[in-house]
Formats: sequence, C-alpha cells, structure tokens
Amino acid sequence: MSESAPTVYLHQEALMGHDMWSEWLLHHRFGGDAQHMQAVLEYLRPVRDRVLDNARLAEGDMVLDVGCGDGLIAFGALERIASGAVIFSDISEDLLNHAQSLARDMGLLDRCRFLLAPAEDLSALEEASVDVVTTRSVLIYVAAKRQAFGEFYRILKPGGRLSIFEPINRFGEEVFSQPHCFAGYDVTPVMDIAQKVKALYHQLQPRDSDPMLDFDERDLIAYAEEAGFKMIRLELQAEVASLGNAGMSLEDRNWETFLHTAGNPKIPTLEEAMRQVLTPEETARFVTHLRPLVETNQRIHRSATVFLWAIR
Ligand SMILES: C[S@@+](CC[C@H](N)C(=O)[O-])C[C@H]1O[C@@H](n2cnc3c(N)ncnc32)[C@H](O)[C@@H]1O
Repeated sequence: MSESAPTVYLHQEALMGHDMWSEWLLHHRFGGDAQHMQAVLEYLRPVRDRVLDNARLAEGDMVLDVGCGDGLIAFGALERIASGAVIFSDISEDLLNHAQSLARDMGLLDRCRFLLAPAEDLSALEEASVDVVTTRSVLIYVAAKRQAFGEFYRILKPGGRLSIFEPINRFGEEVFSQPHCFAGYDVTPVMDIAQKVKALYHQLQPRDSDPMLDFDERDLIAYAEEAGFKMIRLELQAEVASLGNAGMSLEDRNWETFLHTAGNPKIPTLEEAMRQVLTPEETARFVTHLRPLVETNQRIHRSATVFLWAIR
C-alpha cells in the first residue's frame, strides 16, 4: 500500500454509486449552509473524541478506520499518536481520493494507507494484522452487519480494540413513519402531498429491507458477541423532545437549508424530491404548510445513538 498505488479492492456498490457517498458527505448533508456545516461538525467533534477514547490508542498502533469518509476519525487518530499508521478504508473511491489529498496537504501521507473495501469484506487485510478498528455511522449502511463484525474480529490482533458509534434509527421510526408526520413535522392538512414525497423515499429505501432500520443496540451487542469479542461495552443515548421543545435538535435551521439537505446518501434533497413527484400546485401547498413549521422549529425530535467498544 503506497501513495502512488493505494490498495484497490473493487466492490460492486463502489462501482455503481461511486459518487453518492462523497456527494452526500461533502455537500448534501450540509444543505449548502456554512452555519449548518459548523453545527454538524461541532456535534461530531465530541463523538469523534469518544470513539477515539474508547479505542485506547497507543503509540505504534496500526489502526483501521472502516468507512472513513473524509477522515473525521482517521485524522483524529493520527493526531493522537506520533507513531503507527492508519488505514483509511471506504467503498467510495472519491472519498478515499479526497482523504488522500487531505493527508498529502497535511504532510501525513507516510502514515496513511488507503483501502477500497466494504466493511463486510476486508479480505485484503490479513488475520490479526491491526491493533484497532474504528467506525462511525457506517454499519447503519451495511446490510451484512454480522459479517462486518466477523471481519473486524478476524483482522484484529488478540487484545485488539474495536470502537464504534452508530445512530439507532429504529428508535424514531414508529413516530416518523406515521402518515401525518414528515421529518418530524405535523403535515396533517397536506398529508396526501407528503405521502407522495415519502413514497419516493420509500421506493429508494424500502423500509422492510433498509439496513438503516434493521438493527438496534441489542443487535450490535449480539453481533459483537457472536463474532467472538470478549469484553463488550455499550452506551445508549436516547433523546426525546415533544413539539416546541426541539431545541436539542440539530435540525434547527432555515428553510433554504432544509430544502437543500438530504437526510442520508440514498435519498434526494427535499427540493429534488418535490421536483420529481409533485406538481407545481402541490409543491406550493406543501411549502406553504411546511415552511413556517421548519422556520419555527415545530418538530418532534426523537433520536438514539450508541457507542460500542470491545476487546478481541
Ligand atoms: C456517514 S458517513 C461516515 C464517514 C466517517 N466515518 C465519519 O465519521 O465522518 C458513512 C461512510 O460509510 C461509507 N460506507 C457506506 N457503506 C459502506 C460499506 N459497506 N463498507 C464500508 N464503508 C461504507 C460511505 O462511503 C461513507 O464514507
């Protein structure tokens, strides 16, 4: 693995949707709003720190960051240890190229490796070859989660550490899937229109098979246990705020940002979705109802996240 020839393991999804991940991670999750980007990054900073604390990094470690994206966790790991190396792995070639160019700019390239591989197939790496595996908000996109845990166990050295952070989307689903609810907002008077937009989202992400909804914290513990991890710890944080108390939500933003944000990489922004499935009249009615709710933050907030850490 070197700068000129990063290890390349081709994966079907990487070939098909190669830009979907970078488009979302670098652009659509921020809705083109610098202030919102700042808020997201501020939210992520302590998450990154906690993932790295739980990984108990030591000098000389070989760290693998699975689904590295633009390197939030991986660059954080490099900052914490002066020796050792980090393998940036992802299914998005674009994001690996992006991370590689950042590493070059930071003068860190000699301590970085780049691996194009899915979490569920890390066969490019040998058994017992890394000290630490980290991953943040990646398993939520992986259908074969059990297999991914098996891979983490296989490549970790005995005594190696695994540190994970994941959202538990199932926690909010019962509320958010109700027909009168759109992204947490009460759309009762325009429910027929909201259903058209939701139908598009569901077509792109069928709820009964979507990896984002097929697990909770107990499943993650079970996967770690089944893989063979000896000592497993998990912390669940759940937040519920009823209407009018959504101050704890990150979604407190202006209409333009809301319009240009996609909730996850697999769905379009609201503006794109409305353009695809609504008539101009329906769009106008929908916006007239929804916009004031967004601007006054009249939404229900319901979220859960977990930190899981374990020893091989
Ligand atoms: C929400 S981003 C998180 C990025 C990074 N871990 C961070 O903390 O900012 C999800 C990342 O997972 C990657 N990803 C999606 N499916 C994956 C899979 N099956 N295996 C490995 N990475 C995957 C995406 O390309 C994307 O970079």
